[in-house]
Amino acid sequence: MTTQEEINLPFNEMIEPKLLRHRVVSPQLYSEIHKRSLDQGPQFWESVARELDWFKPWEKTLDDSNPPFYKWFVGGEVNASYLTVDRHANGWRRNKVALIWEGEPWSDGPKEVKKLTYLDLYREVNRVAYLLKEEYGLGRGDTVGIYLPMIPELPIFMLAAARLGVAFTVVFSGFSAQAVADRMNDAEAKLLVTADGGWRRGKVVPLKDIVDKALESTKTIRNVLVVRRTGQEVRMEKGRDRYLHEVLSKVPQNAYVEPERVKSEDPLYILYTSGTTGKPKGIVHDVGGYMTLLHATMKWAFDIRDEDVFWCTADIGWVTGHSYIVFGPLMEGATEVLYEGALDYPEPDRWVSIVERHNVSVLYTSPTAIRTFMKYGEQWITKHDVSSVRLMHSVGEPINPEAWRWFFKLVGKERIPFGSTWWMTETGGILITVTPGSYMVPMKPGTNGPPILGVAANVYNDEGKPVPEETKGYLVIERPWPGMPLTIHRDPERYVKVYWSKFPGTFYVGDYAVKDKDGYFWILGRADEVLKIAGHRIGTYELESALIQHPAVAEAAVVGVPDPVRGEVAEAFVILRGGTSVRPELKEELAKFVRENYGPIAVFREIHFVNKLPKTRSGKIMRRVVRAVATGSEVGDITTLEDEASVEEIRKALQEFKEELKRT
Ligand code: PRX
Repeated sequence: MTTQEEINLPFNEMIEPKLLRHRVVSPQLYSEIHKRSLDQGPQFWESVARELDWFKPWEKTLDDSNPPFYKWFVGGEVNASYLTVDRHANGWRRNKVALIWEGEPWSDGPKEVKKLTYLDLYREVNRVAYLLKEEYGLGRGDTVGIYLPMIPELPIFMLAAARLGVAFTVVFSGFSAQAVADRMNDAEAKLLVTADGGWRRGKVVPLKDIVDKALESTKTIRNVLVVRRTGQEVRMEKGRDRYLHEVLSKVPQNAYVEPERVKSEDPLYILYTSGTTGKPKGIVHDVGGYMTLLHATMKWAFDIRDEDVFWCTADIGWVTGHSYIVFGPLMEGATEVLYEGALDYPEPDRWVSIVERHNVSVLYTSPTAIRTFMKYGEQWITKHDVSSVRLMHSVGEPINPEAWRWFFKLVGKERIPFGSTWWMTETGGILITVTPGSYMVPMKPGTNGPPILGVAANVYNDEGKPVPEETKGYLVIERPWPGMPLTIHRDPERYVKVYWSKFPGTFYVGDYAVKDKDGYFWILGRADEVLKIAGHRIGTYELESALIQHPAVAEAAVVGVPDPVRGEVAEAFVILRGGTSVRPELKEELAKFVRENYGPIAVFREIHFVNKLPKTRSGKIMRRVVRAVATGSEVGDITTLEDEASVEEIRKALQEFKEELKRT
C-alpha cells in the first residue's frame, strides 16, 4: 500500500496543467464536493442527463417503487443511435472523422487504414438499420446476436440495432461455439451477424465455421449475415446465410430510418458475464441511465475534447468496448481509433506505432497489456514519439505499482494523469477514478481513487457494516446510479439474489477492497469464484464444466493463481475417469480441449491429476483448501470457514490434499 508520503511525490506537482481541463484538488476538498453531490440525491444526475438530446424529457428522475428494479429518467424518450450518430452528422461535426479503423495485417506498415466521418457512419448505420427493418422485419422487442471481429461493421450493427429499438447481444470473437450457442438461446436472438473470419496474430480465426457449429444447437436463429473480411471460402447455408455486401447492395445509398423513440428504461443491450455459479448472466442495460453515465464519465474520467484522438484498446466484445469504444466516445463526437488485432503484432511496438501515427491523445488500456509491454522492454516504446498522449487510464484488474510507475514514466513522461478506473459489466461505466468529476485528485501508484460524483461506494464487513479505514472488506454501491443493470435477462430472481441479497438494499459487487485515509479505494480482486485472466472475466465453474466435457475427466476443480503478466491464470485439479491412463500428452490435450470449447482466453498454468478432492460432508469442493495448496499459502490464510466445515476439518483436508498432490 502506498504511504501518505508517496502522495506528495513530485509527479503530482508535475502534472502539466495545460494538458488537463480539470482542476487538481486535494482529496479532502474532493470529498467535500462529492458529499455535496450525494446530498442532492438522484436529482444530482438531472443536470448531466439534460445535456443529452431527449426526444421527450423525463418525468421522474428515479423510480424506486420496486427495488432493486430501479428505473432512471422515467417518461423520457431517447435513442442511443441518434445520440451517437445523428446529432453529429446533422451538425458541424459531420465531416469530422469518427472512426480511424486499422486492420491487423502488416507489411512495412498497416495494410488497411480506413477513416469514417460522422456522416459516413450515419449513412452506414442507416443502411444497416434499413436492412434489419425492411429485409428481416426486426423491431422493438427483438434481439440480434453479433459475433464479429474488431471491424467497423461491429459498432455499425450495434448502432443500427439501437436505432430500431432492437436489443443486441455481442459475443466476444474469442469465445467458442458453445458460448455463442448459449448466448443466442438465452437471448432468443433471431438473427446472427458474423464474418467469414477475423485476423488475430497473422492468422484467420474461422468465425463462420464456429457459428455453423454453434447453430447446430440454437433454437431461435433464423438468419445469418456474413461480413466478408478475410475472404476465404465459407459454407453458406441456403435460405439461412447471406453475405452482407450482397444484401446491402440492394439498399439505397441514402436510406434513412427514423430512430425509434425508445423509453429511457427500455433495454439497449444484453451482455453476458461470468458469475460464481451457473451459466453466464445476461446483464441488461437501459438507454437513458446508461448514456447519462457514459456522458458524465467521458467528460470526467477522460476529459474528452473535440481535438482528442481517443483510443480504448479493449475488444468491443467486453463491456469496456461497449461503453468506451462504441457509445461513450461517439456520443461525445470524438475521433477514435478502432484497431482489429493484437497489440504486439507483428512486433511488440505495434500499439506504440498506432499511438504515434494517429496522434492518440487519450489512451485507455489494461494492466495486462502494460505488463506485456514491460516484458518486451522500454526500447520498443522509446523508438516512437508518444508526445501526443495527454491522459491515460487502465482498467480490468488491479494495476501493480511497478507497472503503473513504468508506464507513467515511459508514456506519461511523468507529467500526465494516469489512473486505474474501477467498474464492471454491471455498473455500465466508470464509478471509481482519480478523475472523478471535473477535478483530479493526486495520483497514487496502484490506487483506483474516489468514487465519481453522485456515486456512493463503500467497504463493508461480513455483517454489512462499513469497515474502518485501511481495512479489507467488500466493495458495495449504496445507492442506485444511472448505468446500473435493469435486471438479469430472463432471471430477475437471480439479479436480486446475486447483487442485492448479501447486504439488502445495497449493490454487492463481488470485489475485495480497502478504503484509505483519503477516501481512495484500492480494489484488491474478486471475492468470489470469478477469475480475471489477463483482465478477462471467467468463472471457475465454466472452466470446470468445460473440463468435465472431456471423456477422460470425471471431476475437476479450478482455482486462480497469481501470474506476473496476466495477473491471474487458472490451475486445475482433475480426477480422471476410471481406466484412463495418465499419458504425458493428456495435460496438453485437456488444455487444448478447453481452449477449443471455451475460448483461447482460458489459460492454465498447470493441470494436476489427483485421485481425490477435498470436500465437505455434503460433497462440496473445499475451494479455499484447493486454492491454499495451489498458491502455497498456509492454513492461516484460509480463515473464513468453508460452509459447513470446521477449522479442524479444513486443516485435515488441507494436509490430506497436500499429501495427495505429492503422491501424484
Ligand atoms: O474485479 C474487478 C475488476 O474487474 C471486474 C469486472 O470485470 P468485467 O465485468 O469484465 O469488467 C471489466 C472492465 C470494466 C471487477 O469486479 N476490475 C475492473 N477494473 C478494475 C478492476 N480491479 C481493479 N482495478 C480496476 N481498475
